[in-house]
Amino acid sequence: MSTRRLAIRQPESFTLSAAAKKEIAGWVKKYPKARQRSAMIPALWIAQKDGDGWLPEAALRAVGDLLDMAYIRVYEVATFYTMFNLAPVGVHHVQLCGTTPCWLRGSDDLIAMLKRKIGPKGSISEDGKLSWIEVECLGSCANAPMVQISNAQSDHYYEDLTADTLEAVLDKLVAGGAPGQGPQNGRHTSEPKGGTKVLTTQNLSKARGKLTKLPNAETKAKINYYEWDPKERRATRGGWVDPKLNANPDPKKRPDNAGKDMSAGLIDKPAFAAKPERASEPASKKLGDKPSEVVSDAADVPSPRKAVKTKTKTKAWKRTPVKSDAVPSKPKVLYTDGPSEGDPDDLKKIKGIGPKFEANLNASGVYYYRQIAAWKAADIKTVEDKADKFTGQIKRDEWVKQAKALSKHAAGRTKGKT
Ligand code: FES
Repeated sequence: MSTRRLAIRQPESFTLSAAAKKEIAGWVKKYPKARQRSAMIPALWIAQKDGDGWLPEAALRAVGDLLDMAYIRVYEVATFYTMFNLAPVGVHHVQLCGTTPCWLRGSDDLIAMLKRKIGPKGSISEDGKLSWIEVECLGSCANAPMVQISNAQSDHYYEDLTADTLEAVLDKLVAGGAPGQGPQNGRHTSEPKGGTKVLTTQNLSKARGKLTKLPNAETKAKINYYEWDPKERRATRGGWVDPKLNANPDPKKRPDNAGKDMSAGLIDKPAFAAKPERASEPASKKLGDKPSEVVSDAADVPSPRKAVKTKTKTKAWKRTPVKSDAVPSKPKVLYTDGPSEGDPDDLKKIKGIGPKFEANLNASGVYYYRQIAAWKAADIKTVEDKADKFTGQIKRDEWVKQAKALSKHAAGRTKGKT
């Protein structure tokens, strides 16, 4: 991993274009409400493309403002991923993979050529057309060695490279041409050089004969095979019937039970057999025991575990109502006259509330977990309007959910003490 820092020389400002803002808004919509920060990576990518191919600090702040999140969170992501450029780059920015498979296949030769043509790692060519960096595996190891070249229009992979073929690609790009992307040694995707020798049939499912008999089966069997259905545009089951669908509910009449001795009961119970009814007579009678002492839960077939069960009278458990003289069942949304129901709770235990927020909440009349736990959407709006500090945060950080858990925990502890 390389050290990634913001560029020393930064522009004064950065403004996202209206088109970029619209595109970012489209990404935000893909996530649940108040989860707009999940769109950070696409937002940074759009901001980078919207600028000159790199992200000045002002751009990171712009994204942070747009997604309503702390700048440090944006810096954390932007400084981690090599796809985000933190310093100016050339018109065509080469990202060379130097990880093991690419290294074993000659990435060192490519690096030597790039150093000669552009300059040391991280530099820009004199005409500003080319720049390069080394990155970790880009997931195209089967076509090693490879590079990704990004510019305003595209981000293409160039694979199966030698120093000469890469230099040819760069020359063509600088001249305004469009070199073919992908493998540069003539092979198709990651097939063997010279083309594939196996699995060459266009439609494999049509090509193979239908199986009607399994290799070791004595009789012909219906095979569960799949067919390409052009209408459905997917493979569907063909010629196979679930045996359960055709099974006769009466096991004696089912062909697979023909000739079997069924006197001992069901040999092969169908999956949809009706549940045996409970015996109408008390089982104790059948067993001949005194009803006052012994009863049985057994149905038609007595189970050794359930057959005999001693009836004992259990004492009914009575719930003792918990008396509380201090805590009303429904707390107020705001206690404008101070904490009138005992000592205030430590609201800082709720993630997202620090000492400042706690002071603000207290000043607005919020003191207890149970109070927050009872908030509905309208109550949240009341608190937000009153405090004018927490717009969106209460929902985003799930204060109500957290408060419910804390309130439950606190109630349990109080119960334990009494
Ligand atoms: S190692 Fe280079 S693409 Fe994976």
